[in-house]
Amino acid sequence: MGIDQQSLLATARHVAGEAAALVREASTGPGGHRRIDVATKSSETDVVTSVDRASEQRIRELLARLRPGEPMLGEEAATATGAAPCGEASVGPDSVTWVVDPIDGTVNFLYGYPAFAVSVAAQVEGRSVAGAVIEPMTGRCWSATRGGGAWLDGVRLRVSAPARLGVTLLATGFAYDAARRQRQARMITSALGNVRDIRRSGSAALDLCAVATGWVDAYCEHGLSRWDWAAGALIAEEAGATLSLPGDDPRLGADATLACAPSVADEVAELLVHCGAAEV
Ligand code: IPD
Ligand code: CA
Ligand code: CA
Repeated sequence: MGIDQQSLLATARHVAGEAAALVREASTGPGGHRRIDVATKSSETDVVTSVDRASEQRIRELLARLRPGEPMLGEEAATATGAAPCGEASVGPDSVTWVVDPIDGTVNFLYGYPAFAVSVAAQVEGRSVAGAVIEPMTGRCWSATRGGGAWLDGVRLRVSAPARLGVTLLATGFAYDAARRQRQARMITSALGNVRDIRRSGSAALDLCAVATGWVDAYCEHGLSRWDWAAGALIAEEAGATLSLPGDDPRLGADATLACAPSVADEVAELLVHCGAAEV
């Protein structure tokens, strides 16, 4: 039968766009946390809002209609049912699984800080083949197909080319578990003197898209779930980033994600190893 990546991409863009419209409509703007009902998940700082659930539900309904029979791994259903955060890979070369983060950057959404996104990817045997990341407050849409390049609203993307480690702008993120955050902070603190500066946007999907767009030179984070990286990592890789996904490089630790401009990829990986990435 074979996989039609363009058709998967069209579906990813469509369903992410519909969900992004819903999220935008529900956004309360500055100080939103005073008006939005929240529940907590793995820790008191790991939150879910009714809008996360509504966005995921909308995507589930649309995919059921447009792509009947194809399973969907969505963050909120998966965390509610205790499904493995790494997710189940689809089985067989013709079998597609949809991987969805209904709002990536929920804490930003909660506060009305506009850096959050809807992320939708199609995976085959655990590898992303098409994906879209849409930022509701700007309407920006990043997308990619495997082998077909990465795009931001019709413009082809190419990662940056920093000359050396010392001028590399490094994005990162932190887990919700307090003890893990401290280990992550120790690694980043010891890396900080060797790079240009650090950025923390609050959305892993947007961080990966930022690498693709050349807005940062590299992004690393430990402990991402499949829905965090499924679309963004493909977009970064298709823009030319050197990519390491959880499990790929034991020197960086078992669950590190690293997307990096190739010109400094070895230096950044070595720096993180030197700063204790494997112990994070
Ligand atoms: C989180 C964001 C954040 C990253 C966390 C993720 P959520 O996703 O992507 O930037 O640092 O690791 O869990 O909870 O907002 O969907
Ligand atoms: Ca997420
Ligand atoms: Ca989320």
